[in-house]
Amino acid sequence: MPRFGLGVWKTDNRTSRDSVAAAIKNGYLAIDTARQYGNEQGTGAGIKLGLEQAGLKRSDLFVTTKLYNGEQGDYDQVSKAFENQLKDLGLDYVDLYLMHWPVDKTYIESYHAMEKLYREGKVRAIGVSNFDNDRMEKLLEEAEIIPTVNQMEFNPTNQEHEILAFDQSHDIEMTAWSPLGGGESLTNPVIDALAKKYDRSAAQIILRWEWQRDIITVVKSTHEKRIIQNSQIFDFSLSDEDVQKINELDQGRRGLWYDDFQWHNPNGKVANGIDQWPDTRK
Ligand code: A2P
Repeated sequence: MPRFGLGVWKTDNRTSRDSVAAAIKNGYLAIDTARQYGNEQGTGAGIKLGLEQAGLKRSDLFVTTKLYNGEQGDYDQVSKAFENQLKDLGLDYVDLYLMHWPVDKTYIESYHAMEKLYREGKVRAIGVSNFDNDRMEKLLEEAEIIPTVNQMEFNPTNQEHEILAFDQSHDIEMTAWSPLGGGESLTNPVIDALAKKYDRSAAQIILRWEWQRDIITVVKSTHEKRIIQNSQIFDFSLSDEDVQKINELDQGRRGLWYDDFQWHNPNGKVANGIDQWPDTRK
């Protein structure tokens, strides 16, 4: 799996098409979307366009999408959801299929359905997202296939030490969503000082730090200039001391957890997060 890629949360179909195509054209080899984002059609169109423009094949690209909470359930339910996702993406397989959130009543059954999709060769790998250690432990007791990754919110002010340690001890990679803290970390004075020191942008400093911390990142930008800039992090490195300075910015501050946000359902319904999930916010 490429350890760096583009994410398309909060972008509509047209914008995700354009940013995905721009990313692939500029060398990105991993694209991360989800049913919940409501932009799989645009993402698929961007993949097609980007591959054409870059002269690449489908197999050169690593595509991740996620099972929507409202479509969790038994194999019939999950495989139907997955087939619809493939259709919208215009693909015949995805490289990584993640469970978006651990919905308590259904996540074990849904994960078994995902294992079956993996065995059938419809997905190249399976994993999860937003799993705390208790739920991960329960999943590992039941699972036949260890999730390859746990995609979590990870950025300078939210470093998830306990989850990272637990997952790494089970050979589960952490992928960061919101690696720039939704843009908030970009104005942090410590990051700003490092940006000046290394003559790089704040975003490049943070993304390089994540790279050196061995975290896979999927970073969102809708601007081609920033898409390009964000990928230019492989020709410099932060000193151990400066990595440590960013490590010290952690405040354990999650922007989004099993919280009371409205969860948009691509099938037209709106499900309230609190109805569906236990409240485990810190
Ligand atoms: P935009 O899409 O306008 O570029 P995260 O991935 O942590 O959620 O952060 C994404 C946010 O950070 C988006 O609002 C995005 O805005 C912004 N962003 C991404 N890359 C950069 C960059 N290089 N410089 C400034 N802002 C950026």
